[in-house]
Amino acid sequence: MKTLWRNARLATLAEPGWGLIDRGAILTHGAHIAWVGAAGALPADLAVDVEHDLAGALVTPGFVDCHTHLVYAGQRAAEFELRLQGASYEAIARAGGGIRATVAATRATGDDELFAIAAQRARTLMAEGVTTIEIKSGYGLSLEHEARCLRVARRLGRELALTVQTTCLAAHALPPEYADRPDDYIGAVCDWLPRLHAEGLVDAVDAFCERIAFSPAQVRRVFDAATALGLPVKLHAEQLSDQGGATLAAAYRALSCDHLEWLADDGVRAMAAAGTAAVLLPGAFYFLCETRLPPVQALRDAGVPIAIASDHNPGSSPGLSMLLMLNMACTLFRLTPEEALRGATVHGARALGLHDRGMLAAGQRADFAVWALDHPNELAYGFGHNPCRQVVAGGREQAR
Ligand code: NIG
Ligand code: FE
Repeated sequence: MKTLWRNARLATLAEPGWGLIDRGAILTHGAHIAWVGAAGALPADLAVDVEHDLAGALVTPGFVDCHTHLVYAGQRAAEFELRLQGASYEAIARAGGGIRATVAATRATGDDELFAIAAQRARTLMAEGVTTIEIKSGYGLSLEHEARCLRVARRLGRELALTVQTTCLAAHALPPEYADRPDDYIGAVCDWLPRLHAEGLVDAVDAFCERIAFSPAQVRRVFDAATALGLPVKLHAEQLSDQGGATLAAAYRALSCDHLEWLADDGVRAMAAAGTAAVLLPGAFYFLCETRLPPVQALRDAGVPIAIASDHNPGSSPGLSMLLMLNMACTLFRLTPEEALRGATVHGARALGLHDRGMLAAGQRADFAVWALDHPNELAYGFGHNPCRQVVAGGREQAR
């Protein structure tokens, strides 16, 4: 089916800058964009099946939220209270709270309920223009429960009008059954990966490289197992300390390194040389009241693509708004509004290894959002209200 979306103000991002086309039109053919440009340049004899008048509204590529932990049960508001009283995220994790508290709640929750809770979260993101989302496991931490969480993520992709990319993050924390045996646990994770992959549950493999999680040597074992299966890797790196995780991940040509507040110059250089994207997570920085900023200027200077994402999770980033992430990427990390939008679209796609989305151009997936705004710089400007009027994913309007 050919659909013409006309009378739009397009921010295509298909070239440096916003790629603004004032009186623009998009022609979609099925799930893809067939043509984008100024309305005046449309072929006069164009035959379409359906036509939509967007009344001059702003249209941007759909958001790619390239780092989320969407599938889990429970919440950790009491932990937030403890942190406000002075307890650190690390101290709470070492005392058995943190990720492990969410693992207990998730294991105790059935598949359908996990799906229903996660679907509600996904719909909240989608209402603000998200058309592609990455979902990590990491709150199951056993073969059975990691598989369950990844199946829920796959089901979200089947049942909602959005693309879901799954990432196995079994190396997220040490589960109680492996207390004091981290190397044995890593061995188990390496055994699970081929089985999870054989079931079609894994698009990429991630790990948490940190003092409270896994060492570079342990991460290397997980990455070797992923690489043997032909799976791309990414890494929670340099969030709370510099472990040299980014350099390690770059050696495996990681799709992305994420967080990066403690990233040093050698890590920046290694990422640039490997084509690894930097995923900045302003929600986690904000919610953990961090003060050390990721080295944004060094990443820019080295030409590392900078993505931003929600990092939605119950411990360090319980928000569900990509618009707020755009705003905070600018206020906290000093990205420009254009860099923030590119980070939530083109570079978010890049951080997932996807090249068929993130901009408005012929051949790309027909994933876009329609906004009651005049200029794309307003996306990073407002917060706490939702100017998104319509979302099209794979050429089809999302139900609202
Ligand atoms: O990305 N850093 C590790 N993982 C999550 C937090 C998970 C949790 O606290 O539940 C993150 O911030
Ligand atoms: Fe995360």
